[in-house]
Amino acid sequence: MLSYRHAFHAGNFADVLKHSVLSLVLDYMTRKEKGFHYIDSHSGAGMYQLAEEYAQKTGEYKDGIAKIINDEDAPESLEPYLSLIKSLNLNSELEVYPGSPGIAKAFVRRQDSSHLFELHPTDIQHLEDFCQRWRKVFVKQSDGYKGVLGLVPPPSRRGVVLIDPPYELKEDYQKAVKTIIKAYAKFSTGTYIVWYPVVKRNFIEQMQKDFTNSEVKNLLQVEFCLEKDTDEYGMTGTGLFIVNPPWQLAAQLEEILPYMKTKLGSTNTSYTLKQLIAE
Ligand SMILES: C[S@@+](CC[C@H](N)C(=O)[O-])C[C@H]1O[C@@H](n2cnc3c(N)ncnc32)[C@H](O)[C@@H]1O
Repeated sequence: MLSYRHAFHAGNFADVLKHSVLSLVLDYMTRKEKGFHYIDSHSGAGMYQLAEEYAQKTGEYKDGIAKIINDEDAPESLEPYLSLIKSLNLNSELEVYPGSPGIAKAFVRRQDSSHLFELHPTDIQHLEDFCQRWRKVFVKQSDGYKGVLGLVPPPSRRGVVLIDPPYELKEDYQKAVKTIIKAYAKFSTGTYIVWYPVVKRNFIEQMQKDFTNSEVKNLLQVEFCLEKDTDEYGMTGTGLFIVNPPWQLAAQLEEILPYMKTKLGSTNTSYTLKQLIAE
């Protein structure tokens, strides 16, 4: 089943959290000269046109990136992310929004390599087009979970892995965590980021259990919920598990989360940040 298209959701509140964290992680990785692997198991199209019918149909970006892009009071921790979005939208209108490959492309250097997996026949085409003239990028139309496991440990022993499935199938919750656990067994110093939607709380509790029963160490969990948990259909919040986060990421999120609540949330909005597994 491949009906999910990220173009409907590009730039929404969940992307703001995911992509601001990805920007901070990649920014940190580039502080050392030595190259690293960026591995994106579920890449999407790479770049999204916000004026096109998909984004306009839901208008999700209007309640996400559009609310903060020109805010002069945004915290410093959002600077790497916001300055990247601004650099892509030099006219005052917000016209394009990067997917995770678009974020990565802005940070990686000549010594880094990027490995992008995507299955959807249309999005892989967009992704390949987006990656033209990008050196040291490897795009594959194949399963990203297997792709991650085939690439770790990277020769440089430095790597960032993003696992961002559509969760159309409930197996994705377990597969995402299992992939990290297996990858960690081969490469325990890598940084791993897993995105998840808050739709049914028990799926997230199971992810937490699977992590805490594993060998994985140093796991940060961040969650931002627009609304309280409900049994009704639909995503009420978003979260990330981050294995081996940069040391200052938790403090940066302490700045970002209250800001997101003020700008994107309502009185029902809440957030949590916890070190789920110690170093
Ligand atoms: C949430 S979107 C990715 C968004 C992207 N990471 C971003 O941040 O902009 C999930 C993508 O995974 C793709 N996909 C679904 N199953 C996959 C699999 N097993 N391997 C690789 N890609 C997959 C979908 O077609 C979809 O484009």
